[in-house]
Amino acid sequence: MAILILLNQVDPTLLESKLKQFDDCPEVRIYPDCGNKDDIECVIVWKHDEGVLNDFPNLKLIASYGAGVENILSDPSLPEGVPITRFVDDTLSDQMAEFVLAAILNHRLHLTYYREQQAASHWRPMDFLTGKNVTILGLGELGSTTAKLLDVNGYSVSGWSRSEKNIDNVKSYYGDDQLNASVAGADIVVCLLPLTPTTKHVLNADLFAAMKKGAFLINVGRGDHLKEDDLMNALSSEHLSGALLDVFATEPLPTDHPFWRHPKIHVTPHISSPTDKGRVARQILDNYNRIKSGADPLNQVDPKRSY
Ligand code: GLV
Repeated sequence: MAILILLNQVDPTLLESKLKQFDDCPEVRIYPDCGNKDDIECVIVWKHDEGVLNDFPNLKLIASYGAGVENILSDPSLPEGVPITRFVDDTLSDQMAEFVLAAILNHRLHLTYYREQQAASHWRPMDFLTGKNVTILGLGELGSTTAKLLDVNGYSVSGWSRSEKNIDNVKSYYGDDQLNASVAGADIVVCLLPLTPTTKHVLNADLFAAMKKGAFLINVGRGDHLKEDDLMNALSSEHLSGALLDVFATEPLPTDHPFWRHPKIHVTPHISSPTDKGRVARQILDNYNRIKSGADPLNQVDPKRSY
């Protein structure tokens, strides 16, 4: 019996070595060297090619390498009845919260601006931006941890989600009707939603129009949350003051993409919360063991909810 690692855009050997450090790890194979496909009981996936998960007749677990599972669920030929799990972990949430706080501080304190000024030996001090109202779209594990870190750092935090949430000091907006209201008072809007058919392109001209002039956008969800042309228009009309984008519809971001050279867009390479290889390895082995002993895996994805 074997586990197959099938990762695109991620080095599989790091995960392989972490898996093999555990005594209870079965044989590990790395795609496309699957060996006898009948042996494969668990596949660890990231950005797999459509259809390939159907090749393993004894598959018992499809485990996402990351928190997001839209790439798995968008495959129309997934094998029926095989549970799908995603990576849920405190380190993932804490890193994301830290990244968002850093992005907000960088924006409010103009740190990148000074780095650019340094290149021309310019001494141009500016006051901090005072606006500390933040709205987080998506209050799941990542969003709620981020909301709490911002709260203890003196930010006034609101959140928007599918259903009402009860988090200390975080104003909860929920449902489609309250989406625009949730961002109306925000100086900074952070997208941490799962990507589903209903959240695709949620960051669009309507939402930007509901945001106040000068607001800043941080997208650490998925590239397909954003309507790229609508952002370009909102920036050129100066309705939004800028954006930090960590995720893109096409990754890596193509070298000729206008975002690279846009003066108001800060591009980071999908790095807001990297998966801890040791922790994901342990979590997947635990789930594999649970399935082998007849128990349900933890952190199972509900395909009807899309996450
Ligand atoms: C990263 O984007 C993840 O889904 O974990």
